[in-house]
Amino acid sequence: MTSRLAKYNLDRDKKVLGKEWLLTYGNYFSDEDNIQLFISAVKPFLPNKELDILYVASASGLLGERLLANLGKANLTIVDISQKHLDENKNPKTKRFCLDLLDMDLGKKFDLIIMRSALDYFPSEELQITVLKIIKRHLKSEGLFINQPAYISDVVERNLVSLMYNTVNKIGKRLFQSSDLESIYLNAGFNFFEKIGGGKILNLTEQDHIKRYGLTGDDIGLGQEILKDCKNSARVTKKGYNLKFEFPIFLAK
Ligand SMILES: C[S@@+](CC[C@H](N)C(=O)[O-])C[C@H]1O[C@@H](n2cnc3c(N)ncnc32)[C@H](O)[C@@H]1O
Repeated sequence: MTSRLAKYNLDRDKKVLGKEWLLTYGNYFSDEDNIQLFISAVKPFLPNKELDILYVASASGLLGERLLANLGKANLTIVDISQKHLDENKNPKTKRFCLDLLDMDLGKKFDLIIMRSALDYFPSEELQITVLKIIKRHLKSEGLFINQPAYISDVVERNLVSLMYNTVNKIGKRLFQSSDLESIYLNAGFNFFEKIGGGKILNLTEQDHIKRYGLTGDDIGLGQEILKDCKNSARVTKKGYNLKFEFPIFLAK
C-alpha cells in the first residue's frame, strides 16, 4: 500500500525517477568519490563475515551495489517506493521490493541497513521516528544502521529550508536532518549513535530546482521570501537562492 504522503512525494519526483536519478544534481548521487567516502567510513565497522545488507529508499541501489562489490561477499536487498528506480538495478542476485517504508515488513533481519538522503522524505519528527522503528525491527541484535542524511546543522535554517520545500507545492514534503537527529534516534529505540564520516557538500541553486521540479518565477519568489533571513546553509541571491547540504554519515545500533 502506498501512503498519500509517499504518492505526493513520488508524483513530484516524476522527472528524476529511473535513469534520470543518477544524473540529478550534477551526478551527486553517482559520484564515485562520494561513494568511496561512504564505503571507507563504513567498512571499518563491519564484521568480517558474509553480510545480509538491506538498502532502504535505495533508488537503483547503486551505493549498495558498490559496497557489495567492495566487500566481495554479501547479499543485497533493496527497497524503494518507485518501481522505475528499482528496474534500473541489473544485478540478478539483488532482491528488490517496491514498497512504502512505512509499510515495510520483510519478515527477515539484516546485519547492516543503509540509507542515504531519504529520511527527509518523512516530513515530521513523528514519521521519522516511525520509519526508524521499522528499520530497527529489521536489524539483527548485533546489526548496524548507517544513514547518510541530507543535513543542515543550523536548526533554524534547517526549519526554513524544510518550510520552503513544504510550501512550494511543486516540491515534495521534507524535513531535513539537523542537530536534533540523535534525539530522534533515541526516541526510535536506538541506543548508540555516532558520526563516522561525511560525504561531499551538495550545493544547489534555484536552477537545480527548475530542472528537477519545473519551478516558475513565482515559486522561486515564494522560496526567496521564506529563506530571506538565512545566512549560512541557505542564501537568497538576485535570481533565486543557494542551498548547502552537508552529508554526514551516522552509525547507529
Ligand atoms: C533522494 S532519493 C535517494 C536515493 C538513493 N538513496 C541515493 O542515495 O541515491 C530518495 C529515495 O527515497 C525513495 N522514497 C521516498 N519515499 C519513500 C517511501 N515512503 N518508501 C520507500 N522509498 C521512498 C525515493 O523513491 C528515492 O529513491
